[in-house]
Amino acid sequence: MTVSIRPLAAGDLEALGRFLTSGFQTPADAEFAAVDVLRWKYLESQGDVAEPAPRSLVAVDEAGAIVGHVGFVPTAFAGPGLPAPVPALHMIDWLGSREHRSLGASLMRRAHEAAPVQFGLGGSDAGRSVIRRGGYDSMPSVTVHERILNPLRWLRAGGRSPGKAARASRDLARRLIHQPRTADARLELEPVSSFGPEVVEVVRAASRFAVVAARTPERLNYALRYPRQAPAGLLVRDADRRVRGFALVNSIPRDGGRIVLGRVVDLLLDDDDPDAWHAALLLLSRELARRGADVAQAFAAPPWTVEALRRAGFISRHPLDFRLRDRQALLPRDRPFYLTPIEADYAYT
Ligand SMILES: CC(C)(COP(=O)(O)OP(=O)(O)OC[C@H]1O[C@@H](n2cnc3c(N)ncnc32)[C@H](O)[C@@H]1OP(=O)(O)O)[C@@H](O)C(=O)NCCC(=O)NCCS
Repeated sequence: MTVSIRPLAAGDLEALGRFLTSGFQTPADAEFAAVDVLRWKYLESQGDVAEPAPRSLVAVDEAGAIVGHVGFVPTAFAGPGLPAPVPALHMIDWLGSREHRSLGASLMRRAHEAAPVQFGLGGSDAGRSVIRRGGYDSMPSVTVHERILNPLRWLRAGGRSPGKAARASRDLARRLIHQPRTADARLELEPVSSFGPEVVEVVRAASRFAVVAARTPERLNYALRYPRQAPAGLLVRDADRRVRGFALVNSIPRDGGRIVLGRVVDLLLDDDDPDAWHAALLLLSRELARRGADVAQAFAAPPWTVEALRRAGFISRHPLDFRLRDRQALLPRDRPFYLTPIEADYAYT
């Protein structure tokens, strides 16, 4: 049967939701595939000037049924020595059908046309093996760090793996050994309902030290418009009220609400001083606890973020495979990459 690949249309959203929940074997009402969430992910403007829209391709058979899908999150990397940000993308909600061999790979190749650089963060075994064959290089992994904020609830819930009380107790023992230290840098958080030009200045300063996604105020404000439990926006200021960075945080219920995961969805500061990152992470942990989180989670990669997380009482949980496809060698390889949950779909799932 012939299959054609075309951009997603608004009329496809319900069928796409059904295709994704059935293929990924999730409940039919799973948030990631709800119509309002799919519309936000793929059709709503992100406010950036040259965005490709829609950000999704469907494969349909002759009868018009969806038999494959790939979505993508466009971004651009800024970094040391780069004259301008380099457009890049990360694929999400990528699913083929067992009946159509290699359809996923065809969708991947079509998605690649939207940006000169592609990257993958985490993903399934099948996805990782297909992108490896598709020319993605292995990069130093990103580490997921966590800090238990509410030990009692953590113990009662058996950590995040129900029934695994022994592991939850071990987690608490590690927590006692890795107590947060107080920070020297004096910073404060200011809640904001939208971001402005200060973001551009922070990105410019941060990209002297690491390759970072060139977040724009428009892109962060788009993240704040997530149609379900939206993240909260924060500016990081120093004692002179100068903006030193920005952050997004979210509290995501897990295990049917038994535990609330507080995620540092995004954090960027204007330098590589571990003291400042340490202070910001302590403030964000407190903010997440205030928002009801039982455990705080953040991604780490450059050495100063790893050190700051350690000082702020976070422990390393597991690595996320980071793979990069940069056929034209547009990005520096001798500098660390800094990736946060905002880069793929970890901001809300
Ligand atoms: C990743 C994926 C889109 C690649 O698609 P593809 O290029 O068409 O893949 P292939 O036809 O070469 O199959 C690769 C493997 O994935 C399996 N696969 C294909 N479609 C699948 C599906 N809908 N569900 C589960 N497994 C699937 C194949 O059986 C094959 O496994 P095998 O090598 O053990 O036989 C596809 O494997 C898939 O849909 N996997 C399930 C969802 C997933 O893991 N998505 C990626 C998230 S990062």
